[in-house]
Amino acid sequence: MSMLSENLNNITHSLDLESISRYHWGRKFLTYRNIQLLGGTMHSDKEKCILFNCANRTQGQIVEIGAYKGLSTTYLAAGVKLRAFTTRTHACHVITIDPFIDYKGRGGMRENEWTREDFAHAIYLAGVSSHIDCLEMTSRDAEEAYTADYGDPAIELLFIDGDHTSEGAHFDFETYFPKVSLGGVIAIHDSCYGGPCEVIQEYSGNDKPMREVHRCDDEYSLTLHVKVAEL
Ligand SMILES: C[S@@+](CC[C@H](N)C(=O)[O-])C[C@H]1O[C@@H](n2cnc3c(N)ncnc32)[C@H](O)[C@@H]1O
Repeated sequence: MSMLSENLNNITHSLDLESISRYHWGRKFLTYRNIQLLGGTMHSDKEKCILFNCANRTQGQIVEIGAYKGLSTTYLAAGVKLRAFTTRTHACHVITIDPFIDYKGRGGMRENEWTREDFAHAIYLAGVSSHIDCLEMTSRDAEEAYTADYGDPAIELLFIDGDHTSEGAHFDFETYFPKVSLGGVIAIHDSCYGGPCEVIQEYSGNDKPMREVHRCDDEYSLTLHVKVAEL
């Protein structure tokens, strides 16, 4: 079974958003334009494409920390759904973790914003609800729930976009990285500032447990890292 990390060529270009929307939303669901209006914090089309393509090439478990209004979850789940459709195989669900309240991670967003309904609405409109398991709790609480619900399957694609404080980002990385298989991929959003940036400086590079393999050069900087060693 080939790992996602062996198949990262053209991760930004092999399917553009036009193709994704044609493949996935074209006829059956609302148009891609409607999906774009749903809101969320993934600002560049490139990032959405990368998440879609990563999920589409992943055969193992996918975990997302930080769903907000479901935009990134939608792209991950769309990748999984298309994979299941084209290979006629059972696809893993995207497990997403978010308490949906009290987001203090980034300036400009309201605190105590209730995003659960927007999330449910987005994944329903996109037609991907049945490919998503949502753990409606903090990543701290989800650690136990994850093990109880899923045993301990290795994660092949981990997307970290939750609590962006130094403590929060370290907690998420140090708790969920050990669950990623060697050769698995860790995607980190907002890599240029705050907690996510600190985590990358500490843990990604030569002689470190992960190696950066891709960086989007836009404001929010989604980065991809391959796990090469345990912590
Ligand atoms: C930047 S938003 C995620 C955006 C989403 N990935 C997207 O691109 O559409 C961060 C989210 O992390 C969630 N969050 C904050 N602290 C968290 C925690 N401890 N565990 C899990 N999620 C958390 C917030 O509720 C918020 O919805």
